[in-house]
Amino acid sequence: MNVTLILYESKYGTGKVVANTICPILGPAKSFDINDAPQDVKYYSNVVLVFSLYGHNSSEKILEYIKDNNIGFSKKRVALVCIGLNKQDGISEIIKIKTLINKEDVFTEFIKGETLINKLTYDEKDKIKYFCSKVGIPFNDLGKFDDSKVLDLAKNLREYFNTPQFIPPVNVTKKEIETFLINKNTCTLATGYGEFVRATPLEYEYYDGNIYIITEGGLKFIGLSKNKKVSLCIYENYVSMNNLCGLQISGEVEILQPWCEEYLDVLRSKDLKVENISKLPFDMNIIKIVPNKYEFLYSKFKNLGFDSKQIYIPEK
Ligand SMILES: Cc1cc2nc3c(=O)[nH]c(=O)nc-3n(C[C@H](O)[C@H](O)[C@H](O)COP(=O)(O)O)c2cc1C
Repeated sequence: MNVTLILYESKYGTGKVVANTICPILGPAKSFDINDAPQDVKYYSNVVLVFSLYGHNSSEKILEYIKDNNIGFSKKRVALVCIGLNKQDGISEIIKIKTLINKEDVFTEFIKGETLINKLTYDEKDKIKYFCSKVGIPFNDLGKFDDSKVLDLAKNLREYFNTPQFIPPVNVTKKEIETFLINKNTCTLATGYGEFVRATPLEYEYYDGNIYIITEGGLKFIGLSKNKKVSLCIYENYVSMNNLCGLQISGEVEILQPWCEEYLDVLRSKDLKVENISKLPFDMNIIKIVPNKYEFLYSKFKNLGFDSKQIYIPEK
């Protein structure tokens, strides 16, 4: 199982927020304060070290933990996430940890942190005051933590850790996806923008690499009017962990112009008579979804010796 361990070292809480925000997104995962870190990490395939910068005292406990427990990173995927005010300081600290764990192939990210004067201990207030006078800036709160950067980080990290290692030839993945799409006929389409989100069960038609939905209308058009990006999924009922089958598709929507050639083709492919549709006293809309990414969790891949989750990016 691809499980992620997150260890954070944070005095004032920013690092903790980062670790605990990314944890459920990276799941299966567990986040620990470095003071409570487990000594045995063999269960984890991925390790994320989240540490904040405090001058010469940065990542002290993380470094000590790695040395004391003789943690081996060679077979693990590793990410180093540094929080601080100055990216250059972060790069130096990242190099220090990379050298200690003796691993070059590591995911790294710097997240802008913040220093709130009223949270600091007396001693550290003095250090920051000295730092501010040295660089000639007012003694005030420094930096601004932006939690949307943490969500971007989580998305990239998830992609990094979940890249399948055992991948079938691309035509095998494509064929399994197409067979599944052709055998099913109902999807859940997620649309939205801002505060508006909606999941709609819909019948679909898979045709020539695209997905078509014939629809009289509905609230999904609120999302579609503002945001052409959609996500949809098609899946089998859960039976057991050995029998998983769920396809998630990301794509962009086009609303077909009524009576254009493609619109007529879709009606014909559904055996719908054009003259009957044209006589209806209301508009019949056709939503075309052009997929740009398929994520297919399918136990059959595992039975064939591959990772059970495969990704397929169609050619444009
Ligand atoms: C005493 C002290 C020293 C710091 N030294 C650095 C530093 O050398 N480089 C840097 O980029 N940020 C430095 N910072 C900024 C912190 O990294 C930033 O406030 C961070 O968000 C703190 O994370 P935390 O909330 O997880 O403790 C320092 C902050 C303090 C309080």
